[in-house]
Amino acid sequence: MTAQIIDGKAFSDRVASFVADRARAFTSVLGRPPGLAVVLAGNNPASQVYVRNKGLRAKACGFHSVQHDLPETVREEDLLALVDRLNRDPAIDGILVQLPLPAQVDAERVLQAIDPAKDVDGFHPVNVGLLGAGARDKALVPCTPYGSLLLIASVLGDDLSGLEAVVVGRSNIVGKPVAQLLLRHNATVTIAHSRTRALDAVCRRADILVAAVGRPEMIRGDWVKPGAVVIDVGINRVPAPDKSAGKTRLVGDVATAEAADHARAITPVPGGVGPMTIAMLMANTLTAACRREGRPAPDMTAVR
Ligand code: GUN
Repeated sequence: MTAQIIDGKAFSDRVASFVADRARAFTSVLGRPPGLAVVLAGNNPASQVYVRNKGLRAKACGFHSVQHDLPETVREEDLLALVDRLNRDPAIDGILVQLPLPAQVDAERVLQAIDPAKDVDGFHPVNVGLLGAGARDKALVPCTPYGSLLLIASVLGDDLSGLEAVVVGRSNIVGKPVAQLLLRHNATVTIAHSRTRALDAVCRRADILVAAVGRPEMIRGDWVKPGAVVIDVGINRVPAPDKSAGKTRLVGDVATAEAADHARAITPVPGGVGPMTIAMLMANTLTAACRREGRPAPDMTAVR
């Protein structure tokens, strides 16, 4: 068997065009576009690339997009003052403070200062709590988990009743929220992690296997149940001596070529979950804008 390769780039383009259509309608009815503010503190090169891409995507969706660049030496109180200003700015529907923050800043304090209604990352305790309480339609849902769920639904449909899902990784930004979303869609969910005994055997139970551990190609082909849907959230940069000295390449948490011999469908790295993250940020910004204006938010699970 060779697996279907799930094209996250193509799917993310469909999400973005769905969002752009509805943003156009929003703008014509309300006389203003949805607004996204991204805050970047410091000079982390990866963060600079991510933030630039978020801004470009937001503009392509027809959003009002602003970026606030703060120095590496920014004081926590200045960052909190900016968040407060953005919370009160009526043109801003979504606020994203790019992580990691400089060491002198208490990141948790900053994230908790964001108005939950504008928390398009879905990291605020109010949104975490709403998702945990099964109120996804009132929450803002973290982007990578939400994108992963849409890719799963693109293969298996919305109702995962009777299916065993195994999530490898228990982080607050991926593992736990993915598990909540899978539960909401009726899967039977196990959260496994680095301390799980016989992890390979646990993975072999999975009809849906989500890998979010951050260990390059840890999940081997024979850990994958025949016919499983495999979602690889890992992005690991490893040496690529076959290219030339000093070169690197990106690999996921799954040994993709091996796993593709067992799986029904699998996401590649790059080009799988990664592109979905930014697309879901746009979706969350539109959702926040609609809710703030008392209008129905679009159902993202309608995108196929
Ligand atoms: N840094 C890396 N990924 C993310 C993300 O999804 N959100 C934020 N705020 N920062 C990040």
